Amino acid sequence: MEVSSSHMNIQFDDTNLRAAMVGEANGLTPEEIRQHSPRALEALKGFQEISEAGAQGFPHLPFQAQVAKDILRFAKEVRGSFDTLCLVGIGGSALGAWALDCGLRGPHPVQPAFSVRNPRLVVLDNVDPAFTAAALDSMNPKKTFTVVIAKSGSTAETVATFLIVRDWMSEKLGRKTRSRIAAVTTAGAGDLHALAEAEGYAEFAIPKNVGGRFSVLSPVGMLPAALIGLDIRGIWKGAAAVTHDSWQPDLKKNLALRAALLHYLVWKLKHKSIQVAFPYSNQLWGSAFWFRQLWAESLGKAKSRQGDEIHVGQTPVAALGATDQHSQVQLYVEGPNDKVFTFWAVERFADSGKIPKAGLNLEAFDYLGGQTLAKLIDAERRSTAAALTEAGRPNCTFTLRKLDPEHLGAFLQLMEFQTAFLGELLGINAFDQEGVELGKKFTYGLMGRKGFESYRDRFQAYEQRRKSAD
Ligand code: PA5
Repeated sequence: MEVSSSHMNIQFDDTNLRAAMVGEANGLTPEEIRQHSPRALEALKGFQEISEAGAQGFPHLPFQAQVAKDILRFAKEVRGSFDTLCLVGIGGSALGAWALDCGLRGPHPVQPAFSVRNPRLVVLDNVDPAFTAAALDSMNPKKTFTVVIAKSGSTAETVATFLIVRDWMSEKLGRKTRSRIAAVTTAGAGDLHALAEAEGYAEFAIPKNVGGRFSVLSPVGMLPAALIGLDIRGIWKGAAAVTHDSWQPDLKKNLALRAALLHYLVWKLKHKSIQVAFPYSNQLWGSAFWFRQLWAESLGKAKSRQGDEIHVGQTPVAALGATDQHSQVQLYVEGPNDKVFTFWAVERFADSGKIPKAGLNLEAFDYLGGQTLAKLIDAERRSTAAALTEAGRPNCTFTLRKLDPEHLGAFLQLMEFQTAFLGELLGINAFDQEGVELGKKFTYGLMGRKGFESYRDRFQAYEQRRKSAD
């Protein structure tokens, strides 16, 4: 069945998730879908209550008119004075901005030359010292604007990199440095906020009820987006349209709910513990990486809401079509049947990629002449779906009419709603990340942060166990 969002041109085709296409062992019967549909409506109601109570804020983000005004006013003030936007942040504080940049301007190697009119985005997320040094070498401190993003205000990677960048800027800019930095963090709390206040950086707030991986439509994604010149009103407009659709108690109109239910059923009833997010668009590659975090951190949980130990999670994998047909598809078609494939298609590309007729009298060349790359990539995706289906591998497809700010904003919000609904179907809290927190605390202990001595001791006990295990 193919269903469309009523406000946006996004479709979801779930035909190849059906038993009629991939067999009963791997696909869903109409009876299974019917039987579980009431649970989807309960999940919708459950999440609606959470959202209305203000416990989760991402559905409200596209409607914050004042935030949009503040961001746009600030962007207008500072744009034109930098050719590089340096984003210091990690995880949910970095992936959203990258997804937007890649989605709307393309992957970096093919973006137009950067300039003060078209600043590039350099994301310093990892603490790889060679990468950080090379990135700084490529930037001019006088032409760089830095946005440091951390909801907690204290993530070690972000703080360490920011200290390096701040120092690098101060060496050339001295007291002017403060006017070339903006901080995005939890309003009125944490050490990054304290530093921003002390040094006088512009500050933008992350609402308390919005977690990192759900924050792309807050200043976390939208401030960098506005600073590199993306149409943030368009992004919010698409996201707002999907938000309206996502509250519809109707599985034919509510794509996010339908996709959540079907992914849940194929995972739980047909044992597909891996989801391959498979965009057939280089521009959606950043979004696939953003989605990996959203799905993994939200749905990988040790405990149910009731506190029972359950250890659930579906492993997200990102693959790029058509490229990964020549790398991963052998495994996907013939290897273990433990995956569901979710294609992300674009109907109208910005360019059709006309293939010239060369008249070479060579069979492998001549049939392609006069056709387009758009037709070829579409044929590649549909052929891969057919091959997977013939091999009994369930798959489904989201199709975006085109890649513009509205469609991208809509799609990201759709993925967030889908994730929230799936969390409700699983009976877990999709919004915490205890598993991430422990690693962070061990790092603080190891790096000597005050108050984390017990984690240093716990880490040392682990090292001791490693020694005696040898
Ligand atoms: O989704 C999350 O909450 C995490 O992945 C965070 O985004 C990540 O750990 C970075 O945290 P912070 O923004 O506090 O630096």
